[in-house]
Amino acid sequence: MLNVELYCGEAALKTDRAEVLRRSWQFIGHETMAAKPGDYIAEEIAGAPVVVVRNAQGGLSAFHNVCRHRAGALVADGEGHCGEAFVCRYHGWRYSLDGRLRSAVDFGAAPGFDPRHYGLFPIRVETWRGLVFVNLDLDAAPLSDLVAPLADEPPFPGFPLTERRSHALACNWKAYVENYLEGYHLPMVHPEFDADVVVADYRVQVQGDLVFQSAPARDASVYAGTWAWLWPNLAINTYRHGYMIERMTAVGPEATRLDYFYFFDPARTAELAEMFVASDRVTAQDKQVCEEVQRNLRTGIYRGGVLSPKHEQGVAWFQARIAHAHGEPAPPRLAAVS
Ligand code: FES
Ligand SMILES: [Fe+2]
Repeated sequence: MLNVELYCGEAALKTDRAEVLRRSWQFIGHETMAAKPGDYIAEEIAGAPVVVVRNAQGGLSAFHNVCRHRAGALVADGEGHCGEAFVCRYHGWRYSLDGRLRSAVDFGAAPGFDPRHYGLFPIRVETWRGLVFVNLDLDAAPLSDLVAPLADEPPFPGFPLTERRSHALACNWKAYVENYLEGYHLPMVHPEFDADVVVADYRVQVQGDLVFQSAPARDASVYAGTWAWLWPNLAINTYRHGYMIERMTAVGPEATRLDYFYFFDPARTAELAEMFVASDRVTAQDKQVCEEVQRNLRTGIYRGGVLSPKHEQGVAWFQARIAHAHGEPAPPRLAAVS
């Protein structure tokens, strides 16, 4: 039985964050967003403020955006440049870009206070093909394990970050993920899609911690016809002339924000405009059904259904993993095949 309580309420979100989102690789941006030493990306990840900074050696370091004095923020959320040091916005403690406390400015003589014990709390940071991921679990397996099933996929051409768009959805993040993980809804929810890809030949495949979806793209389609989803909340959507990274962030028990990072061939302005029309339309359509599902989950009449063995194996796999993270038995995986 599906536990619909996992889609509502602060307690479920707290467990999602502790057991799933803070134990997995989370996309924070593209490496070009922090190109020079001192450039940073600050963002709330799984409810925790984090900052990734280009360090003096040219690599990336990541920390909790939390001062060790009295928990001030080092930098405001967003992208920026902090020079050679973080200077806390509250009382001005200075930290080098490797996280060491360099100066507890004007602190006074405090017996026993050793600045070496007050470095910033570190976070794991790794990159793959220019994409920057952080992990709040210091013992997590490397990012390379997660992306291993993508090894044979063609590398991204060096398209620039062209545009970012965000969308607010009034649903639990898992309701949106489950929508993403199946193509069963395409004929009903996205009827226009069939002009771009052969919906009848849509395929879903679970590989490691990834779910691949594909459909043959028709001539002149804006899509390349492949979609890769990475546990637990990221997708890579490919287009004929670019790609888009889609981050699915839980901002509340029944609130999700989608952040889209578009990388596109700058020469293809007409296709870019066409792609935005398609992308915005698909998101609006999914938003509507996901918000309707959320309302019904909250009502409590629905207590779990059945999943299609033909189309919803990705959903079944996701629900089983979530149930496991919550210490529950997995819901029925697939409907009986008759
Ligand atoms: S909280 Fe950072 S210097 Fe006081
Ligand atoms: Fe959809």
